[in-house]
Amino acid sequence: MARFLTIFLTGLLPVWLFSQSISGLKCEYQENPLCIGAENPRFSWMLPALGQNIVQSSFQIRISTSESDLKKGRNLIWDSGKILSDQSVNVAYAGQTPLNSATRYFWQVRVWINEGKPIPWSETAWFETGLKPSDWTAMWIESNLSEDLKKSSPSPMLRSEFAVNGKIRDARLYITAHGLYEAQINGERVGEDLLTPGWTSYNKRLQYQVYDITDQLRQGNNAIGVVLGDGWYRGFLVWQNHRNTYGEKLGALAQIEVRYTNGKTARFTTGQNWKSATGPVIASDIYNGETYDAREEKMGWTLPGYDDSDWTPVKVVDYPKEHLIAQVGPPVRKIQEISPVSIFQTPKGETVVDFGQNMVGWVKLTASGKTGTRITLYHAEVLDKAGNFYTENLRAAKQKNEYILNGSGTETFEPHFTFQGFRYVKVEGFPGTITKDNLTGVVIHSAMAPTGNFSCSDSLLNQLQHNIQWGQKGNFVDVPTDCPQRDERLGWTGDAQVFARTAAFNMDVAAFYTKWLGDVAADQTPEGAVPYVIPQVLRAKDVGSAGWADAAVIIPWTVYLTYGDTRILENQYPSMKAWVDYMADGAGENYLWDTVFTFGDWLFYSLQDDTDGTSAITDKILIKQAFFAYSTELLIKTAAVIGKKDDVEKYSRLLGRVKETFQREFVTPSGRLVSNSQTAYVLALNFDLLPESQRPAAAKRLVENIRSYKNHLTTGFLGTPYLCHVLSRFGYEDVAYDLLFQETYPSWLYPVKMGATTIWERWDGIRPDGSFQNVGMNSFNHYAYGAIGDWMYQHIAGIQLDPSVPGYKKAIIRPRPGGKLTHASGKLLTMYGELTTDWKIEANVFSLSVVIPPNTTASIVLPKLSGDEIHQVGAGSYNFSYEWK
Ligand code: BGC
Repeated sequence: MARFLTIFLTGLLPVWLFSQSISGLKCEYQENPLCIGAENPRFSWMLPALGQNIVQSSFQIRISTSESDLKKGRNLIWDSGKILSDQSVNVAYAGQTPLNSATRYFWQVRVWINEGKPIPWSETAWFETGLKPSDWTAMWIESNLSEDLKKSSPSPMLRSEFAVNGKIRDARLYITAHGLYEAQINGERVGEDLLTPGWTSYNKRLQYQVYDITDQLRQGNNAIGVVLGDGWYRGFLVWQNHRNTYGEKLGALAQIEVRYTNGKTARFTTGQNWKSATGPVIASDIYNGETYDAREEKMGWTLPGYDDSDWTPVKVVDYPKEHLIAQVGPPVRKIQEISPVSIFQTPKGETVVDFGQNMVGWVKLTASGKTGTRITLYHAEVLDKAGNFYTENLRAAKQKNEYILNGSGTETFEPHFTFQGFRYVKVEGFPGTITKDNLTGVVIHSAMAPTGNFSCSDSLLNQLQHNIQWGQKGNFVDVPTDCPQRDERLGWTGDAQVFARTAAFNMDVAAFYTKWLGDVAADQTPEGAVPYVIPQVLRAKDVGSAGWADAAVIIPWTVYLTYGDTRILENQYPSMKAWVDYMADGAGENYLWDTVFTFGDWLFYSLQDDTDGTSAITDKILIKQAFFAYSTELLIKTAAVIGKKDDVEKYSRLLGRVKETFQREFVTPSGRLVSNSQTAYVLALNFDLLPESQRPAAAKRLVENIRSYKNHLTTGFLGTPYLCHVLSRFGYEDVAYDLLFQETYPSWLYPVKMGATTIWERWDGIRPDGSFQNVGMNSFNHYAYGAIGDWMYQHIAGIQLDPSVPGYKKAIIRPRPGGKLTHASGKLLTMYGELTTDWKIEANVFSLSVVIPPNTTASIVLPKLSGDEIHQVGAGSYNFSYEWK
């Protein structure tokens, strides 16, 4: 049969598909943010997809403090003028006038495309600046109540009233806490953010939030109340009953700024005139859960006129304000609700509710009954072999919420300062018969916009993708955590690093990582070592593990590649460099980094009765040297991007020595590695540590190794992310697919076959016989092994970026059909707009549809049995189809 090839350039797609105007206006990755701390914030926008090959040739931005002035083009704070540039992402404020604090700025942009065709001014967007440390006149307040520091005490409630005398133009609440806070004004909760002020290295960086409370205030008397919870600040954290990590007393700092229509202003702050008491939150702790006694509710305590005569005056405390920062990352919010799929009795007789999904958040409970009735909710991820409720893998974390009814009718409870990781809930003490309507699963996580999706013709792979996305939801709760359920939930740097590339496909993680990287830099030791966990809450000596600490370099680089963000590289550069220097110092004159502990290829495949060395152990010093080289290489690339020429030279020399040393120490003259493990070959190949001439043979050995394990992976945390990438790169796509489709342990699909709805910490968290792995470390929601998601997007769906033109300004579309797949599609909302790929093989015909967003270009690499065929294209829609046999 004659070969046929058709390409349709779909320049005439229905216009209704596209917005005709500039859209997606963002400032520092957020739409109309209330709280910008950056001195010269950056602006991004998306061009309308008006047709084929749309490119921006120029842009103009203007900014004003008045929306009407902005529209008339007068009293501008900044008018960029027409700037010849195709940059539409992260354009930094470059006005002469420094931006004021606590001010709303309106902005808009217009662009010219292709032959200078103008696109009209965009809609108005705005951003508001935060407070400078010197703008804070509020005083920290703490409750005077005596507390038992060994356990969670009742949550302090703090209140005050203030008079608003005039017509309000607008009002803001600036607020933060030691501990977690929830604020109310005039009986209504302020904002929707949860677990505020979030978790940072509190003593160095403490975020405050800003809320628009214009509509919550009224003329005359107003009341404000703040409830505090232990949170990460002083609750149980880490192991062995450790608590009070950052301090012993909870406190609040709040400042209300009111602007009247007559131009006058008023300010109300935390201070001497506040009072405190305790109420219904009897105990609340991140790991252990919350006890809420509704009989203790203080009705109307945040309404003006409430009788607080028996409340105690607060204590005013003087803490420094220099480390207060405007919120950087997205707030944690309620993202979705899930209804139970079943309620049943276990063999032990427990009443258990199954939500059908391992999730993170809590259960909203509705019940009615006699006052004093205590309902207890226990949370677990799995049932044991016999079908009973299983909590041993939670270690010391109780994950228990208790609600005590006040008997007022239908009562609804949601906890305030805790979250649970669970699929199953055991209910005790429920009055009457429980139905599905009594419980709703509330999913919470950092409110990152979903950006990506992957799907294909194989239902197990689709479930794997689902599990990866749920692993991300559950572990992106303000900090990238290892797990969300046991007494850990820490910002493990290694886990974060291995998953970052996948994460950046699924959701917009730019601001989330920007915030966390600030803490990475803040918690680095003076010598440059990066702690195992960020924020650092372990021992001072728990720093510097290879593959973990490298998060300080790998994640900024990932953010740069994904979003074209050079500022993150500039800001993190000292931290990145300090980490590489730390390794170089440790390596000394022979360039072998053999000091300092490393976790190595954590949780690699090993047999309990390994008598013939089948366990896939990779030499730890080999791993250290490999990451030493990799971070040095990324540092060189970073230095090149931000124009640090001397460093490019300096670190290139270092890299040469590090690689030579790698070869001398770990590679035999015939190219064999000292560790014959998949991870050793994967790291050596992925980080280009072998001379070119030895690479094909090394790749072949990797394949032989995989085949010797009958197409099973044996990699741990550090080897897994790069395994399939290396196979693809060296022409072994078929082997990558064999691994991916492997259904028996160890493999990605084994947990899927066992019914997993999230990614497990271990390849065999539940063994084929239904027994559990070591209870000491057996989480069922650990995103690390979900790092395969990156390969699925890049190689199956074929969405890749060109590192020399980052941020998907130039994409590489290179789908690689394989295995038993007959169809796959990928979708990614880039900073320029949505990029999609969709391919199928039907009746021996391969067809591919691609959409490339405006102001970007792409190389489309068509997979052909006879060899690749490359098309350089601009923005637009493309369809290809040709014979496949
Ligand atoms: C965590 C990991 C982490 C590891 C360090 C564990 O307890 O859960 O995911 O990276 O410790 O090896």
